[in-house]
Amino acid sequence: MAITVEAVSKQFDGHSALEALDLEIADRTFVALLGPSGSGKTTLLRIIAGLAYADEGHIRFDGEDVTEIPVQRRNIGFVFQNYALFRHMTIAENIAFGLSVMKRRDRPSKADIAARVEELLGIVRLDGLGKRYPTQLSGGQRQRVALARALARKPRFLLLDEPFGALDAKVRQELRSALREIHDRLGLTSIFVTHDRDEAFGLADRIAILNGGKIEQYDSPEAINRAPATDFVREFLA
Ligand SMILES: Nc1ncnc2c1ncn2[C@@H]1O[C@H](COP(=O)(O)OP(=O)(O)O)[C@@H](O)[C@H]1O
Ligand SMILES: [Mg+2]
Repeated sequence: MAITVEAVSKQFDGHSALEALDLEIADRTFVALLGPSGSGKTTLLRIIAGLAYADEGHIRFDGEDVTEIPVQRRNIGFVFQNYALFRHMTIAENIAFGLSVMKRRDRPSKADIAARVEELLGIVRLDGLGKRYPTQLSGGQRQRVALARALARKPRFLLLDEPFGALDAKVRQELRSALREIHDRLGLTSIFVTHDRDEAFGLADRIAILNGGKIEQYDSPEAINRAPATDFVREFLA
């Protein structure tokens, strides 16, 4: 599924967070949004998701204008750094949550939900842990649960906002590999927000480097390394 961001602008209190920003994300691409704090990464991700609305411009999914379509109807999976799990629910119940709250006419049967949860536990390599509670898992395992929960409704896109920020280096590395492997295997189109250069360069097919609500460069990691487009990019990567 391709994503097109077309001349999107967003202001907060007269201050410009995004300025006539264009971005074209091809189907099945893994894109990193990389930039310093305050550069507009989260705002852009929220507008693509339908969690916030642009003042001007359009969002298209496979060419279809979804600018006015609310988040619930965009079929997107989210993973955030602080997207906490429900503490009073088991891992299986957490993963099933998005399915169990669907309207009755759309909701899978209990047996189908249980089968889907088992499948998702396998995808994130947490087989056998469905009956545990979140406090009985490590931080890395909890983010795997968050990823499984995001995938439960078979989203077309996966949007991740600094999802591994709170984890130590070794666990981050493991989760990056797991995420990239899942992205490829499921044929997802993923957008990953980070301010960590190594993370962006290690994960993404293409990197959009943001600065002050604008894209300084959008290219493959190799091309950005070879030929930084602006002074900002050169300094940011130095
Ligand atoms: N809800 C909001 N209200 C006011 N200002 C906001 C809001 N969200 C973001 N901003 C401002 O917009 C700019 C971009 O923020 P953000 O998208 O969160 O950047 P990033 O994710 O790159 O750190 C910042 O100047 C930030 O202060
Ligand atoms: Mg942010």
